[in-house]
Amino acid sequence: MPSDDDFVERFESASLTTFGHSEHVRLTIVYLARHGRDGALRRLTAGIQQFAAGAGQPDKLHATRTRAWLELIAAARAADPDATTAEALVAARPELLNRDLLLRCYSQHLLESRAARTAWIPPDLHPLLAALPTTGAQEIPDNGSMPSTDPIGAFLAAVSRAQAQQVDTAPAVLATASAHGRPSARMVLLRGADARGFAFFTNYTSRKARELADNPYAALCIHWPTLEEQIRIEGRVERVSDTESDEYFSSRARGSQLGAWASEQSQVLPSRSVLETRYQEIERRFAGVPVTRPPFWGGFRLVPEQVEFWHGRLDRLHDRLLYRREGSGWHTERLYP
Ligand SMILES: Cc1cc2nc3c(=O)[nH]c(=O)nc-3n(C[C@H](O)[C@H](O)[C@H](O)COP(=O)(O)O)c2cc1C
Repeated sequence: MPSDDDFVERFESASLTTFGHSEHVRLTIVYLARHGRDGALRRLTAGIQQFAAGAGQPDKLHATRTRAWLELIAAARAADPDATTAEALVAARPELLNRDLLLRCYSQHLLESRAARTAWIPPDLHPLLAALPTTGAQEIPDNGSMPSTDPIGAFLAAVSRAQAQQVDTAPAVLATASAHGRPSARMVLLRGADARGFAFFTNYTSRKARELADNPYAALCIHWPTLEEQIRIEGRVERVSDTESDEYFSSRARGSQLGAWASEQSQVLPSRSVLETRYQEIERRFAGVPVTRPPFWGGFRLVPEQVEFWHGRLDRLHDRLLYRREGSGWHTERLYP
C-alpha cells in the first residue's frame, strides 16, 4: 500500500488508476487531517473532477456523496481522537468502508438526481451518524452462502439494529384474502416475534378476522425506509392463547382498552357520536375497576412458511434473501432483485 504522501500525490496528479470507495474514504481522512473540512472538500472535489475527466467520465463527481462522506468521516474523527491515521480510523469504524451507508440518509431517487451530482444536498445526518457506531445491515457473502439458517433470529437481529437507529419497527402491512381469493391489506402493529411466529392484535369480528376465518393464509410486509430494508412474511395464521391476549390487553393504556370495547371494528358506524356515546357507556361500566379484555378482541399469530429480507444496494442490485420452511428447518436462497 502506498504511503499517504504517495497516495495523495498520485491522486492530485491524476495518476491513480482506480478511485473506488475505500480510496475515497482514505483520501478524505488524510485531507481532513491536513487541511480541515473546507480545504479537504475543495481538494477532494478538484481531484475527483480531474480524475473523472481523465477517465473520460466528466459527470462522475457526486457532490452530495463527497460532502456527506466528508461529514461522516469528520464526525468519526471527532468521536475517535486517538485514531489519527486512516488505517486506525477505519479499524475503529469498519462501516466507513460500507458504501451503502449513505443510502440510509438519501432516497435512491434523490441520489440519482442531477442536483445531487452537481450540488450539495444535505442528508438527514441523524440516521447517518447514528449508523456510524454499528456495523450496518446484515452483510451477505457473495459466495452464495447465507448468513444464517434461522429467519426468526435474522428478523430479531434486524429489529434490534433498526431500533438502535430509532426506527419504529412495530408497523406492518397485513394482507389477507377472502374465501374467493380477493385480497385486502391494512396496517397493524407487530407485538411479538419468536420461534412460534409473528403476533398482532385486533378485533375478532373485524373484516380481517372474518377473512382469516375463511382463509387462514396471510402475509405481512414491513418497510424501514431510512434503512432501505423490507421484510416479507407469509404463512398460516392462528389465534394466540387467551392468556397471551389477556397479558397484552392488560399492558395497553386504559383509553385503548375502553376503545376496544366501544368499537365494532369494520362494521358500519352511523355517526361519530354513536361511537362516542358507546365509549362513555363503557367508561361508566368500568368506572373504578380494571378493564377486562373483550371476548371479541385478541391476538393472531402468523406462523411463517417463508420470510424474505430485502436490502437496498447501489445501482438497484439489491439483495433478496428468501427463507422457505422445509420440514423442521429452513431452505435458503437468493432471488434476483
Ligand atoms: C400504523 C397503524 C397501525 C395499526 N395497528 C392496528 C392493529 O395493531 N390492530 C388493528 O386491529 N388495527 C390496526 N390499525 C387499523 C387497521 O389498519 C385497520 O383500519 C383496522 O384494523 C380495520 O381493518 P379491517 O377492516 O380490514 O379488519 C392500524 C392502523 C395504522 C395506520
